[in-house]
Amino acid sequence: MTRIPLIAGNWKMHNTLDQARTLAQSIVEQAHSSESCEILLCPTFTALSTVSECTRGKVALGAQNMYTEPKGAFTGEVSPTQLCDLGVSYVILGHSERRTLFKETDAFINHKVHSALKHRLRPVVCVGETLQERETNSTEKVLKSQVQAAFKDIPKDAAPQVVIAYEPVWAIGTGKTATPEMAQQAHAFIRSILAGMWGEDAAAHVRILYGGSMKPDNAQSLLGQKDIDGGLIGGAALEASSFLKIIQSAQPVGAQ
Ligand code: PGA
Repeated sequence: MTRIPLIAGNWKMHNTLDQARTLAQSIVEQAHSSESCEILLCPTFTALSTVSECTRGKVALGAQNMYTEPKGAFTGEVSPTQLCDLGVSYVILGHSERRTLFKETDAFINHKVHSALKHRLRPVVCVGETLQERETNSTEKVLKSQVQAAFKDIPKDAAPQVVIAYEPVWAIGTGKTATPEMAQQAHAFIRSILAGMWGEDAAAHVRILYGGSMKPDNAQSLLGQKDIDGGLIGGAALEASSFLKIIQSAQPVGAQ
């Protein structure tokens, strides 16, 4: 069994419609579709429809967030049903910017994970420690509580649908990257937590992405680690050339 690497671009709150179309088109045109790597683009909500027209069937489309309910009086929110309508198949949940700036709690993220799976959207659940947590040796404690909380009451059958992004908060948008050894250690730890919840077999199916200043010059060494199954890329995903170079660095990883 192999885990197909997933290279995901998190465009955050960037790009007008024209810019989103141009970027998506150049990625779709230049990325050679291959069975050895899956490509995912996560534009802002307003560009989903436009990007969907460029990507349909060639690269996957993801949203950066969603609300838990399928419809209702929730001004300003976007539902899983509406995302499915646009051809979205993945949704990023619990990104550290949402946890910090928008006060999303572990319980709320867990509620969203349940809702995403119910609507056949694959959750990309972000976890990661702050600099202070790393410096006080709390990294494993934080990762364990975030992973266990996010997947509370999720059955092990869901494992193949689940993606986790390990994103040390101190590495996001800062140019500082975890060393490949540091990242591998965190990924292996996350997989051991999953094994404790769901068993070794199910845990071996979960793709764990690294995120935090992944760039063409560090992608290969990060993606070469045994438990690193792809990347969630912010800054370097906003230029087709750097995103394409990261895609080229991805190789399938044999699951243990
Ligand atoms: P970065 O962002 O690659 O710009 O550090 C990653 C993310 O926040 O998903």
